[in-house]
Amino acid sequence: MSNFNEERVLAVHHWTDSLFSFRTTRDPSFRFRNGEFTMIGLKGEGKPLLRAYSVVSANYEDELEFFSIKVPNGPLTSKLQHLKVGDPIVVSRKATGTLVLDNLMPGRHLYLLGTGTGLAPFLAIIKDPETYERFEKVILVHGCRQVQELAYGETITETLPQHELIGEMVRDQLIYYPTVTREPFRNRGRITDLMTSGKLFSDIGLPTMTKEADRFMLCGSPDMIRDTRDLLSEAGYVEGNHGEAGHYVIEKAFVEK
Ligand code: A2P
Repeated sequence: MSNFNEERVLAVHHWTDSLFSFRTTRDPSFRFRNGEFTMIGLKGEGKPLLRAYSVVSANYEDELEFFSIKVPNGPLTSKLQHLKVGDPIVVSRKATGTLVLDNLMPGRHLYLLGTGTGLAPFLAIIKDPETYERFEKVILVHGCRQVQELAYGETITETLPQHELIGEMVRDQLIYYPTVTREPFRNRGRITDLMTSGKLFSDIGLPTMTKEADRFMLCGSPDMIRDTRDLLSEAGYVEGNHGEAGHYVIEKAFVEK
């Protein structure tokens, strides 16, 4: 049996010249935990061309959704960005990744810190009822250079609060904090600076972070991951992974080279 399912594209949405999302059919046998990634790609002449993508849709949904950057001359994304409804796409039968609730110790507040397409795994996590059972408040921070890159803002603020399964939990427990670094916006600055200065915490009305109460998931560019990880580990927070839960977990946002 092949390690891949062949799916069909159901919808494509272009956010900007360099960001797009698409939905596909989902083989019912494909299982994943919210926050995980899988390999997807296109069949070519020889072996399929594959890259890792976090799953945006929650694991109880019938369709799969992915959020992608368009890399100029990227072998896969230069083709993927032209996907049309009905096109075939291959999706691995397996998913994996460290951004899962079980890799975190119990706490009160879950901070999901993402830059760019690093938002993707958190979209599945904020749709998971278990996230709200484990944490009193869930804070989704999305950092981008420009306002128009803040994809999914309306989904988070308009659609999810009305969701039949998790709407009430979203309304009561989810805090969305988009921040922009290179043009005017209501929230400005890098995630790291907002944490160090304490502005993030005062803006959302929660106490300054402590090891006892706060847990973090990080997903974004290697630089953002490095600096945020340094900040946390210097303050004594411990990284978690499979087998040993910690105060925080990390995953690079997958960007095609
Ligand atoms: P900045 O505009 O100050 O570089 P990119 O598009 O390069 O992946 O960046 C996405 C967002 O992540 C931008 O807002 C960028 O801010 C921010 N960023 C880049 N590097 C870091 C870092 N080392 N720590 C925190 N945020 C970062």
